[in-house]
Amino acid sequence: MRQEALDELYSAHLRACQDRTALALAATGYDALVLHSGGLRAVDFDDYHYPFKAHAAFKLWAPLTDAPDCFVIVRPGCRPGLLFNQPDDYWHKVPPLPDGWWAGEFDIEPVRDLRAARAALPAGGRTAFIGDTTGFGDWGFAAVNPQPLITRLDYARARKTPYEIACLREANRLGARGHAAAARAFSARDSEYGIALAFMTAIAAREQELPYNPIVALNAGSSVLHYQVLERTPPHDHRSLLIDAGAAFAGYGSDITRTYAFDDPDFALLVGRMDEVQQALCAGVRAGVDWRDLHLTAHRLTAELLHDSGIITLDAEAAVDSGLSSVFLPHGLGHLLGLQVHDVGGTLASPEGGTIPRPDGHPNLRLTRVLEEGYVVTMEPGLYFIDTLLAAARANSHARHIDWARVAQFAPFGGIRIEDNLAVTASGCENLTREAFRTLS
Ligand code: GLY
Ligand code: MN
Ligand code: MN
Repeated sequence: MRQEALDELYSAHLRACQDRTALALAATGYDALVLHSGGLRAVDFDDYHYPFKAHAAFKLWAPLTDAPDCFVIVRPGCRPGLLFNQPDDYWHKVPPLPDGWWAGEFDIEPVRDLRAARAALPAGGRTAFIGDTTGFGDWGFAAVNPQPLITRLDYARARKTPYEIACLREANRLGARGHAAAARAFSARDSEYGIALAFMTAIAAREQELPYNPIVALNAGSSVLHYQVLERTPPHDHRSLLIDAGAAFAGYGSDITRTYAFDDPDFALLVGRMDEVQQALCAGVRAGVDWRDLHLTAHRLTAELLHDSGIITLDAEAAVDSGLSSVFLPHGLGHLLGLQVHDVGGTLASPEGGTIPRPDGHPNLRLTRVLEEGYVVTMEPGLYFIDTLLAAARANSHARHIDWARVAQFAPFGGIRIEDNLAVTASGCENLTREAFRTLS
C-alpha cells in the first residue's frame, strides 16, 4: 500500500481517536489516559517468554506489535506522547526508536525501564490507565482499567476509520495470498502442517505474528470448530480441507475461511451451495440491518440447503424453530473484526453499557448490534457433521428428521465454513476478502 496514502489516513484516524477519547474521558471524570502496550510474560522458572501480544487499546494508537512496556499518553488538546522502551539489554535486540509513517504524530521519549517510564508519566490530575491488570496498582493512577471508560472506548471501536479499513484491506490481501498457497499445497496432497507452512511462507509470517493460530483441518478434522492440531503426516486419502487463517497488518487481522473438496463431486456440490448461501447473506449486509436477523436468516438458508441435499427431512422453518439447524450450525454467523479477531463490544447496547440479548437458542452469537457504516464484520456460515452434537440428536426428537445414511456419507469430510470480511457501507458492504482473492497477483 502507498505510504503517503497511509500517512494521510493515519492522521485522520489519530484525530478521530483523540476526539472520541476526549469525550469518553470527560464523560467518566478523567483528564488523561495512559495506555500500556503489555508486559512480557516469563515462563515459570526460566528466563524466556511467551509470545508477546500487544494490548489492542494501545495498538489502536501506535501500530507497534512487538514492543513490550511502552506507553501511549493521551491528554485532550495535546499531541499524544509515546514512552518507548529501550532497555539496556545485551541478551535481546534493542529496538530502534520508531520512525515510520505514524511516528511523527507522537512526542516520543525513550525509557530504559519501568522505573523511568513511571517517572515520565503524567503526575497529579485524574489519569486513567488501561493495560495489563498487574503491577500498576500503586503507580498513582486515578483508576486502573476503569470499566465505564473502557466500555465507551470499546463501543466506539466497532466503527472503523478509513485508516483501519485500509489496514484490514491489506490484511485481507496478505491473507488471500496465504490461502492461495495453502490451496496449492492441498492439491499436492500435503499434510496439515505442510499446508500451514505454505500459508505462512507465502506471507512471510511466523505463527506468533498471525492474528490467531491457523486452523488447518483435513477430512473429519474439519468438524472441530477451532481445530488446533497440525498433523505432520498426510492422511491416506485427501477428501476435504477447511482452512481458517488470517494475516496481520499494522496490528489489524483478517479472519478468512475456505473449504475445498479434493475430488468428491457430492461434497464439492455441498461446498458450492454453501458458497451461494454465504454470498446471499453478504448481499443482505448494509447499515441498519440487525445482525441477529441475519443470523436467523443464515439458519433458514442453511436448513434449506440441508433439506435440499437430503440431510434433513424437516422443512427449513421447522428446522430452525426446533433447533435442528443448530445441530449442523452451532456457532454464530460472525463477529466484529479489527485489532482483535473477535473485536470488542459486539453485544454492547450503548456507550454506557448494557447488553443486547442473543436470540433464544443461539448462545454463541458474538454480535447482536445493528450494523452501522464503518463496522467490519466476518460473514461465516457453516455446516458441520460434529460427533457429539449428532450423538445427542440421535438420542432426542431430532433423530427422525435426519437422514443418517446421508450423514454417514458426509461425516468423513468433516464440515464446511466459508468466511469473508466485510466493511459495512450505507447501501451494502465492501467484501474485503473476495476483492483480495480477485486481485491476487
Ligand atoms: N477464526 C476464528 C473465527 O472465525 O471466529
Ligand atoms: Mn475464522
Ligand atoms: Mn471469524
